[in-house]
Amino acid sequence: MGEITRPMPQFTSIFSWSLIRHIYTVRTTREEMEREEQRWASTAGFLAACVGSAVGLGNIWMFPYRAGKYGGGAFLAIYIFLLFIVGVTGLTMEWTLGRSRGGGPIKSFAVMPFGKYLGVLPTVTMFLILSFYSVVFAWILRFFVGSISGEIFRESFLNDIAFQPQSLIFCIIAISITTLIVMAGVKRGIERANLVMMPLLFVLLIILAIKSVTLPGAYRGVEFYLMPDLSEMNATTWLMALSQVFFSLSLAGGTMVVYGSYQSKNRDLTLSSVATSLSDTAVAIIAGLVVIPAVFAFGMEPGEGPELIFVTLPKVFASMRFGWIFAILFFFTLILATLSTAISLLEVCVNALCEHLKWRRKKATFLSALLTMASGSFLSVNENFFEFIVDLSSIYLVILGALMASIALMWFYGSKRARDELNRGGRIKFGRWWEVMGKYVYPAVLIVILLAAALFGIG
Ligand code: TRP
Repeated sequence: MGEITRPMPQFTSIFSWSLIRHIYTVRTTREEMEREEQRWASTAGFLAACVGSAVGLGNIWMFPYRAGKYGGGAFLAIYIFLLFIVGVTGLTMEWTLGRSRGGGPIKSFAVMPFGKYLGVLPTVTMFLILSFYSVVFAWILRFFVGSISGEIFRESFLNDIAFQPQSLIFCIIAISITTLIVMAGVKRGIERANLVMMPLLFVLLIILAIKSVTLPGAYRGVEFYLMPDLSEMNATTWLMALSQVFFSLSLAGGTMVVYGSYQSKNRDLTLSSVATSLSDTAVAIIAGLVVIPAVFAFGMEPGEGPELIFVTLPKVFASMRFGWIFAILFFFTLILATLSTAISLLEVCVNALCEHLKWRRKKATFLSALLTMASGSFLSVNENFFEFIVDLSSIYLVILGALMASIALMWFYGSKRARDELNRGGRIKFGRWWEVMGKYVYPAVLIVILLAAALFGIG
């Protein structure tokens, strides 16, 4: 490895040979160290990172407003049902693909024709999601600061900051925090940060949910949220719930493929997929319990749409005793959720540059961060473009990427081989049902949603 076997030519001085040898040895060990650094230290760390990626704006921002808008309990019931069907299958397929091929989407998709090129799509999708994420992340940072100064209680606060030049600086701060963690590496940066952030996020959310459901009058909200009303179940509810499952679990052939490639072959994937789906759903449900009952308790409407947590919720906090404390806690919780997800999105870009251009991690992270700052800044002052990118990436591209990942693994890599790979190190073993689900049911469901989305448009 570090040894040079070629005989030393006579005319070369001892000095320069030992120099070359020194550089070469240092280089190999550094590469080995980098490769070693690109592994999770423990399954707990892998889980924390995956839950960190999954739990994000999808759970705390989108889920409550979509549930509020699309029938409350009906939406929740369909969501849970679909999650069991496609969630675990999707996660295990993407992890297996990454782990068995030992790389991100570009390397992994290469099992199928044109796969190398198709693999660029999820990478770009992650970049687009990261770009709009950094815009919302900036608002959240601004709301956090505003909850300390009391500015968020001003009715027009969202309008004052969103899509205004002053949000640029917060966008840059948001990306810089994300970059610092990613730059520190998989083990020392991403894994460590998530092992701290995730438990904290759970504790804070539970405190907030207890406060919300015990408010006088919250009961009607709990009922609206938890009791499925069958008359509310229509095609849109189904479509929205399904795209929500994909977005929320970070299934798009990007993040989870890369995170899976960092998990050692002798470690568990099966039980981890159940744990990740359950934690992600638990956070979504609890986030709904934080938002919806509180909104009902103060006689407001949960069907406000995307403004629910930025406009309606501050009003709720304003009318609540010690509401400002809960506002600070709430926006801090949102920072944890958003940061852990942004990390996972940036990592996909970094991974692609390191793997294919052989760049050093620091250089790759730095360049990805600069690009994200450029696109994030652009979106943070262009509302129409922002909305376009949100819909394009979070609905259509996500589903397309997930579809390609499942086809690459189950149809080209081979479903039997994939199942053996998956079960290796697994605490529980998945049977043949997994092959049937992944090979037929999953792509069929995806194609149906994709067509329906293209025909009727959802979002
Ligand atoms: N799951 C995240 C959320 O709920 C978003 C996300 C992160 C994502 N990585 C992804 C979505 C990859 C699709 C694909 O907010």
